Amino acid sequence: MNDADSEVMGRLLEREGYGKVDFPEGADVIILNTCSVRQHAEDRALSYLASLKRVRKENPSTVFVLAGCVAQRLKSKIFEKTPFVNIVLGTDNILELPKLIEEAFQKPNEKVLATEVKGDLPKLAEGFWSSLSYGCAKNSELMGQVTIMRGCDNFCSYCIVPYVRGREKSKPVSDIVSEVEQKVADGCKEIMLLGQNVNSYRSNSSDFADLLREVEKVNGLERIRFMTSHPKDVSEKLINTIRDSSKICEHLHLPAQSGSNRILEGMNRGYTRQQYLELIDKIKREIPKISVTTDLMVGFPGEKKEDFEDTLRLVEDVEFDAAFTFKYSARPGTQAAKEKDDVPLETKKERLAELNELCEKMVLEKNRRLLGKVEEVMVERFARKEKKLVGRTRGNKRVFFSGDGKDIGELLPVEIEKAYTWSLLGRVR
Ligand code: 5AD
Ligand code: SF4
Repeated sequence: MNDADSEVMGRLLEREGYGKVDFPEGADVIILNTCSVRQHAEDRALSYLASLKRVRKENPSTVFVLAGCVAQRLKSKIFEKTPFVNIVLGTDNILELPKLIEEAFQKPNEKVLATEVKGDLPKLAEGFWSSLSYGCAKNSELMGQVTIMRGCDNFCSYCIVPYVRGREKSKPVSDIVSEVEQKVADGCKEIMLLGQNVNSYRSNSSDFADLLREVEKVNGLERIRFMTSHPKDVSEKLINTIRDSSKICEHLHLPAQSGSNRILEGMNRGYTRQQYLELIDKIKREIPKISVTTDLMVGFPGEKKEDFEDTLRLVEDVEFDAAFTFKYSARPGTQAAKEKDDVPLETKKERLAELNELCEKMVLEKNRRLLGKVEEVMVERFARKEKKLVGRTRGNKRVFFSGDGKDIGELLPVEIEKAYTWSLLGRVR
């Protein structure tokens, strides 16, 4: 989400005539877009911000903007911690950025706090979003990302997102489709639809599956991905839509968070371990090639050894294709932060290491099952170090293979010859 927001901010400023520079020392404006999902992310953002003080000394007219969730959470406290910041820009205020920067140039000594979380998405002229999309978001011109909704209503007890990004708000289908059309016209072949919980997308009478069916109609678009799906909201209609589509990639990112019913309840996740497993079974029955990735957390308040072992068993039962694992970090203001953070840091670290070891073993096993199989790979670019091309399978696995680069942007059949935990090695068939 932050990556997509950064893209929008960049585009808004480019439209006003700004350009990118390679080093902060040369910049007239420095924008830090921040994440506060865990304390560690927030600490890193703030210490990087503090390190930019030297730039302010060298160039007193630089405008400093602290944007994103840390800005939203700490608001005017940012000015106390780092007085050289000019603008604190909240998550729902990014469209105001060009105007605020202009004002900051006029009045360099004024501090601007723009952190109002809005109830609705702004009413924008038709075509506003597509007018921002020339080219694609990621380093590869082939892949673009389109935010379909902002905010979250789920209030998982550990999570800061509903507080810093506000209530769930969905963009209209027509806006999303025209944004996708524009990106495809600019060269995108693959689109990632983004939202905190894409399954609860709703605009008028359209749900997420309806949206996917509309996006699928865009000529020239070859692949559709989306993130993140909440296990409690995966409908049969969505599963069937993925099954029946040739463009929607067979990959679901379905954060489980924990394998223990007691912990899942404390987290307010809205499903039990059994329900999660049944959902996985149902998805695998309909879409046998599905790749399932997840987020898992260790050390949630009250997590006992048995709870953690339930998470390990879940990893074995589901056979995830990748897992992002985290140590619980108390976020001020959330429900869980009222509980004692009672799992010692050492225990969290030990559990994380054990979980990672198991996940890596399971992922490698899963990848080995692809040996000898032919996968559809979209050729993205030359890999940085190796003299190989790199692309992704429909299941979102990275594959390296030899080639002269003429096929960049094409979908090629690649036979998998070697399997590692984080990537595959193959040969174009
Ligand atoms: N502590 C640790 N991990 C967290 N996540 C969200 N909030 C916290 C927290 N307070 C993790 C969840 C989520 C992912 C984006 O970050 O696993 O799915
Ligand atoms: Fe946070 Fe839960 Fe919403 Fe995800 S679904 S953003 S974890 S509150």
